[in-house]
Amino acid sequence: MNTLLLNKIYDVKLNITNWKKDNLIIGLVPTMGALHKGHASLIKKAKEMCDKVVVSVFVNPIQFGPNEDYNKYPRTIDADKNICAELGVDIVFAPTPNEMYGEGNKLSNTELTFVCPPYNLTDCLCGKSRPGHFDGVATVVTKLFNITSPNYAFFGQKDAQQLYIIKKMVKDLNMNLTIIPCPIVRENDGLALSSRNSYLSAEERTWALTISKSLKEIEKLYKQGITDCSILFDTAMSILDKNLEIEYIEFRDFNTFEEVKSAKNNTLTAIAVKAGKTRLIDNIILV
Ligand code: PAF
Repeated sequence: MNTLLLNKIYDVKLNITNWKKDNLIIGLVPTMGALHKGHASLIKKAKEMCDKVVVSVFVNPIQFGPNEDYNKYPRTIDADKNICAELGVDIVFAPTPNEMYGEGNKLSNTELTFVCPPYNLTDCLCGKSRPGHFDGVATVVTKLFNITSPNYAFFGQKDAQQLYIIKKMVKDLNMNLTIIPCPIVRENDGLALSSRNSYLSAEERTWALTISKSLKEIEKLYKQGITDCSILFDTAMSILDKNLEIEYIEFRDFNTFEEVKSAKNNTLTAIAVKAGKTRLIDNIILV
């Protein structure tokens, strides 16, 4: 498989134009690289559904806060390209920040057009501790959609708030593509796969295992008929390792994103914690 590694928007668009002439179905898997089995599952789904698959690898500066891990975020483009080649990806699009945002990186909203999703979706859960994060995500994702004109774009359910916001953005702005949500991929011991897991020490990793454990217990209780979110919240609190710094445990209707007090089908149960310096998120959708 001849996987092209392209850095220039112009070169990607040229390929896309040729594919469109042949009426080929195009799939986009947007990533920040450091690809793992979670990304591989998105790519495999894209390969099933599309004639051509583009994987973008771009650590997007405008979705990181000033004290976040933009500089230390893992950058492993050679390994990423090999994974993409093994999976039969057609193009790996790995632009520089200058290519995406222009020379001099004018990245503030006084100089750059931003796409800003509704405030009530971005000021809660992860948005509370990461102001501006979802504006940065919506902006780069819009740019990636405009560059690659995909028929389908594939997003993991692990970033449930991101997935909800992007689906809403596509609907609100009449974007001409379909978002395909893909299930969370976990290690055998339950830890949700994340590029940030590489930051964890062995000890922090054992603390982190209690996140999926608590979500599993919530699911078990829900299946037994317990719907009171305060009971489900207390259950999670009692299981989460005391060394974790808990940022939130929230219950939201995944159709409307409104907070719920009583869990029902399609309730998103989402948890964010810090294990040492590493911020981790995980969730489950109750059915
Ligand atoms: O989920 C991610 O990896 C990023 O937020 C995304 C969607 C690639 C945008 O930078």
